[in-house]
Amino acid sequence: MMAWAADTCNVVPMDLTNRRGRVFNAACVPPSKIKRESVSLAGQLRAKIKAVGPITVAEYMKEVLTNPVAGYYMHRDVIGETGDFITSPELGQLFGEASMVAIWCFSEWQKMGSPIPLQLVEMGPGRGSLAVDILRVFERFGAANEVSLHLVELSPHLRQVQSEALLVTITRPQQTELYYQSGTTATDIPVFWYNSVQDVPRQFSCFLAHEFFDALPIHKFQARASLTEDGWREVLIDIDPAAGRDKFRYVMSQTPTPASKLLIKADEKRDHVEVCPEGGVILEHLAVRLEEDGGLALFADYGHDGTKTDTFRGFRNHQLHDPLVDPGSADLTADVDFSYFRACVEDKLLMFGPVTQRDFLKRMGIDVRLQILLQNCDEKQKQNLLFGYHMMVDEDKMGERFKLFSLFPSVLKEHLVRFPVSGFVDS
Ligand SMILES: C[S@@+](CC[C@H](N)C(=O)[O-])C[C@H]1O[C@@H](n2cnc3c(N)ncnc32)[C@H](O)[C@@H]1O
Repeated sequence: MMAWAADTCNVVPMDLTNRRGRVFNAACVPPSKIKRESVSLAGQLRAKIKAVGPITVAEYMKEVLTNPVAGYYMHRDVIGETGDFITSPELGQLFGEASMVAIWCFSEWQKMGSPIPLQLVEMGPGRGSLAVDILRVFERFGAANEVSLHLVELSPHLRQVQSEALLVTITRPQQTELYYQSGTTATDIPVFWYNSVQDVPRQFSCFLAHEFFDALPIHKFQARASLTEDGWREVLIDIDPAAGRDKFRYVMSQTPTPASKLLIKADEKRDHVEVCPEGGVILEHLAVRLEEDGGLALFADYGHDGTKTDTFRGFRNHQLHDPLVDPGSADLTADVDFSYFRACVEDKLLMFGPVTQRDFLKRMGIDVRLQILLQNCDEKQKQNLLFGYHMMVDEDKMGERFKLFSLFPSVLKEHLVRFPVSGFVDS
């Protein structure tokens, strides 16, 4: 096993929930802020529905999360103790600095012959914690010289948080570029920000996404009682005439929609299905890039293998929240359908996983890492460390439901049989 990058404690104390809605201890979001932002967004949605009729769940989700003026992610820090939900990169050093993900990227890149230059690309980097930790690991192993960091982020506020976390002073491009801001870390690593992964330069890249795909818009479909050829109907969102101003309701489309015609598999057995075509488009784009430019990818998210039905939900203040109430005041999320993602790439790439976060972290040596850290801790740090460990690994917390999968170019098939992908098979 590779040497760990650091052996001291640096774990954030947390008493919070993950995005499955498991409550550990609620924290507060200022109500005044929620009210102001949510009213204007609900107003915009009502006006749109009045003008064009009920909208798709995908359209609703996209507006609620990323509307430039009032979208949930756009103007505040929503992740962590003072936000609405907690994610693994925010749980401290075990998953962060010298973390399993950072070690995974470094060691898989090394196994591929350490091709340079290397672009580290993170989609939806949140508070930037994972990116900071990954750069630190590459620096520790003396491999940062040929590395650049590329962040795909829509939120102006989170971009600011990320640049502060990375200690980057921002410059704007003088002329039209595909990135909209850039800078250099204190250790001279170039960092670029983009709206879309399609804008990141075509070069050998390591793509990462942690709780990104579950924030992308989904379409929802319901099978009618008698499954005829046009038996599927799209679930839409309408104004709820019986409720207050900021409440919406689900309605069923009267006729097939383009999405219900195109996105349902012919052999679909479930009676309720959620599909994320935006995620599928991203994966198909990455498939072309990994094949033509080389690279690897690691994604982590809540998800299932084409078995679940209705997973669309909201989170506010570390509690489950009705996604149709007070839009813009709560995070919206839906489990990733890994079987759909597999279908998008399997003829082009090698896909490993999904494996549970518990299995991945244990195979990557989290237990050894924990024991080393515990030896250098005071009592308080020990408690925080154990709290973070149990949140990430326990079956009733993030350990079982949170999953990872990885992608590699198909040309590496034999190579990866001889040198199996870390974290995905027992050694
Ligand atoms: C649930 S947060 C996860 C943050 C971080 N990866 C973590 O695990 O802590 C989702 C992230 O994706 C970003 N995001 C959401 N939709 C996006 C989109 N369509 N394009 C780019 N970023 C998006 C959000 O602003 C946020 O940074």
